[in-house]
Amino acid sequence: MEFNTIIEPFRIKTVEPIRRTTRAQREEAIKEAGYNPFLLKAEDVLIDLLTDSGTGAMSSRQWAGMMVGDESYAGARSFYKFEAAVKRITGFKHVLPTHQGRAAERILFGSALKPGDIVPNNTHFDTTRANIEYRGAIALDIPIAEAHQPNVYHPFKGNMDLERLEQTLREHSGHVPMVMVTVTNNSGGGQPVSMANIRGISEIAHRYGIPFFIDACRFAENAWFIKMREEGYADKSPMEIAQEMFEYADGATMSAKKDGMANIGGFLAMNDDELAQRCKNMEILGEGFPTYGGLAGYDLEAIAIGLEEALNPDYLRYRIRSIEYLGERMKRAGIPFIEPTGGHAVYIDARRLLPHIPWNEYPAWALSLVMYIEGGIRSVEIGSVMFGRQPDGSEKPAAMELVRMAFPRRMYTQSHVDYLAEVLDYIKEISPRIRGVRMVEEPPVLRHFTARFEPTHDGLLV
Ligand code: F0G
Repeated sequence: MEFNTIIEPFRIKTVEPIRRTTRAQREEAIKEAGYNPFLLKAEDVLIDLLTDSGTGAMSSRQWAGMMVGDESYAGARSFYKFEAAVKRITGFKHVLPTHQGRAAERILFGSALKPGDIVPNNTHFDTTRANIEYRGAIALDIPIAEAHQPNVYHPFKGNMDLERLEQTLREHSGHVPMVMVTVTNNSGGGQPVSMANIRGISEIAHRYGIPFFIDACRFAENAWFIKMREEGYADKSPMEIAQEMFEYADGATMSAKKDGMANIGGFLAMNDDELAQRCKNMEILGEGFPTYGGLAGYDLEAIAIGLEEALNPDYLRYRIRSIEYLGERMKRAGIPFIEPTGGHAVYIDARRLLPHIPWNEYPAWALSLVMYIEGGIRSVEIGSVMFGRQPDGSEKPAAMELVRMAFPRRMYTQSHVDYLAEVLDYIKEISPRIRGVRMVEEPPVLRHFTARFEPTHDGLLV
């Protein structure tokens, strides 16, 4: 007999208590934090869905691995173990450990871009875009049209628009030093990219003689979606699928804080000898010697084991299913979100849930505050607070007003998800009464991290 219930494929060996607070305490805490969830003390949060980055639980094997970490400055045993794990999955010739994903980006773009260059991607993550723009180059997002239609179903909404890619390469020949694709597409709703699309990007880039890099943060989740949704992959293991994804590429940047199942770390990998040499020189300047790259030996051990655990089918089934399950509960309650649910997060569509709040009273921001006040849940706004301020100083609405609930790996259980669904049901019920916020302190750059706010109506959000 095959049973349908998908259980957490682990038992819990160590527990960390989470602190219950009253609604009054949370109202006070968020007021003190200037109505900015980034400024809350983590201890005042019951369920923390701010990010899935570095926040997951490590396995007993990873903790055991940390005890045998080799802290030699150069040529440590732990580096060779790490290198072998990355090579087994990606097949790339050169592997440079880094302290996290953005360090790999900084080294790669610092070594390969010049001002005026263009880097196409399905959608650049913020740090990727910022590192490209810092070099005076242009980060071009060319996802398929469905990516911006929250309620339209597409099995691979993270795909790149291949026609636009070809057009870009044709029109800007000599100015595109690399093509990238982000799997899964975090900024576009954690949506997967199909193998056919990866193959297509590779074919086009290589026809123009341009290298193709994968932003591989959530490669294992992407592999699982390919297994579930793409013809011809149902019988392949996530490892085989991941190996094929990387076969089409010339290199990758990776944050091991996601599908490396570690609390810190990342890497840059590639085949090109000459580029690798330049990157290694740059790595020494900022990260450290190329066999540790800003990490402790024990971090390298944790990542080597984590990369393999991330590809475990039982783990991936549970991971993707628990997020899908939350989506089903929300759908039943009539809460709009980006469909289908992605790999690491659910993105609530605040513009549709709170149509009465104008964009410049930041509906998604207000919603994330109410989720904290009512349920102790911390999430993140991806809307007009994050993207509204323009380089010329003006303000305009973001393309979408979203609240992202990102799930740390192996951290929360079914009952946490049930609790979350119950809180969201209640929020749906009170949604007509939710009011907006105004910004009272605004830093000049990356304002969402430190800006302070006030409710627009008598100091009350609901
Ligand atoms: N690329 C993608 C697709 C990411 O999601 C992130 C991080 C990075 C690169 C940068 O990696 O944080 O290790 O330097 N995303 C986190 C998030 C922060 O919350 O989505 P990093």
